[in-house]
Amino acid sequence: MANTIIVLDFGSQYAQLIARKLREVQVYCELFPFDSVLEDILALEPSGFVLSGGPNSIYDPGAPQIPGYVLESKLPILGICYGMQALTYALGGKVSPSSDKEYGAAELITIKSNPLLKDSTQQVWMSHGDRIETPPGGFEVLAISENSPVAAMGDIKNQRYGLQFHPEVHHTPHGKEVLRRFAVDICQITPNWTSESVVSQSVAEIKEQVGDQMVLSAVSGGVDSSVATALVQKAVGDQLVAIFVDHGLLRKGEAEGVVATLQDNLGIELVVVDAKEIFFKALMGVTEPEKKRKIIGEKFIRIFEEQAKLLGMPPFLVQGTIYPDVVESRAPERGHAEKIKTHHNVGGLPEDMKFELIEPLRYLFKDEVRRVGEAIGLPTEMVWRQPFPGPGLAVRCLGEITPERIFRLQEADAIFTEALEKAGLLQITEKDGEISGTSQAFAVLLPVRSVGVMGDVRTYQEAVALRAVTTEDFMTADWARLPHELLAEVAGRIVNEVDGINRVVYDITSKPPSTIEWE
Ligand code: XMP
Repeated sequence: MANTIIVLDFGSQYAQLIARKLREVQVYCELFPFDSVLEDILALEPSGFVLSGGPNSIYDPGAPQIPGYVLESKLPILGICYGMQALTYALGGKVSPSSDKEYGAAELITIKSNPLLKDSTQQVWMSHGDRIETPPGGFEVLAISENSPVAAMGDIKNQRYGLQFHPEVHHTPHGKEVLRRFAVDICQITPNWTSESVVSQSVAEIKEQVGDQMVLSAVSGGVDSSVATALVQKAVGDQLVAIFVDHGLLRKGEAEGVVATLQDNLGIELVVVDAKEIFFKALMGVTEPEKKRKIIGEKFIRIFEEQAKLLGMPPFLVQGTIYPDVVESRAPERGHAEKIKTHHNVGGLPEDMKFELIEPLRYLFKDEVRRVGEAIGLPTEMVWRQPFPGPGLAVRCLGEITPERIFRLQEADAIFTEALEKAGLLQITEKDGEISGTSQAFAVLLPVRSVGVMGDVRTYQEAVALRAVTTEDFMTADWARLPHELLAEVAGRIVNEVDGINRVVYDITSKPPSTIEWE
């Protein structure tokens, strides 16, 4: 695929962000570890390289170096932070440790007109110790900052550039423009990576892969499996059969919503398996979280296997693998795991069930998956919904799982969700640097009974905890500062409207030390 930028990852926490920002300006790019083999890179016929930042100092023993083929290719190069230092070192310039580490916002002053930096001054984000003392031969200083005598450098003739700041982060407001200029003006890429182009390209590829054979898919109602399935259906129509196992542990109205959207609206042939009784029976008396997960996973596989056999074992299976999963599996220490992935067995399926995988989302970031979902007609609420764990409400119903307790939890959760939605807080919004809303919000039913009084009657009933967090990556999270009035209204409604609950508490722990889910 020509028209592609290769981002080489030198270990930066921002490497995925560089790739996402390029894609946001409709430039296709792929992220590889810095030591990837040449063939993998050349297969994409790159138009240019971006070298990411990284935690090392270039003089550290074993510090990652730019692969020879990058410099030999004569393609345009943009080194960012460590990538700039590695470029300097490789081309004979001088990098030195700086006594003034520069971290945070800085003013960048452009001192030489160049194709990358058009603003005479701009705010940028710095995060570095080492700095460039002398650029390599052929390079000129393009911009400076208070602590960086070489904040940007370039060999304009040979189209090689280095930036000491991070154009990919939010705190460099014009950074995306800088990346766009590198890709479009310098690498001559046509910015045509759009949801529509992804859809038409995927459809063509899936058609070619599948021919006239049958394809199987498992949908959970989650974003990835729904979008992947809908894309495949667009390509192969009724050669696709999707299986939806209703384990009874979804949120209020969710199972009906999945069927209505996929079957009724999109015309996907959906086998709906009502497995509620099977799951409730298997979970009876189980209170240990990991045991719940294991039982649910195993039961799901059994049911899926039965259905696949009934359908004559189609040779293809749709998987909702997304790009961050692929990037993780490309991590150098795991070797080239990715190669094995395209024709292997899906986690947990029995040995004799081999499928060829169709993974139409494997090059997409989550937000791109959502946009593709919208482009093929999935409803906004399904596509932009908050994450929901595979084991569903089983891990939010602490203690024993019974239909009655799950019903109680569904009702409480629906009240909380409805109130958040009405207040516009069911998603994250940012205004003037202020974050509001929630990344994930839900109710948890506690296996705790406490005393209450309703009317003149003493009650002894269960408690519900409300959990709402803000987070970017779900690895760390803060509890959402929801308005007290909203919490009061939700608590009042839950206690009044849901039988068996007489107390509501709000979880005010962050992750870490807590986790987002309670189990
Ligand atoms: P924790 O609770 O670890 O959750 O802070 C982080 C994110 O992962 C989701 N999560 C799960 N998703 N199966 C899933 O598919 C699971 O067993 C599971 N456990 C947690 C959780 O909802 C949150 O978004």
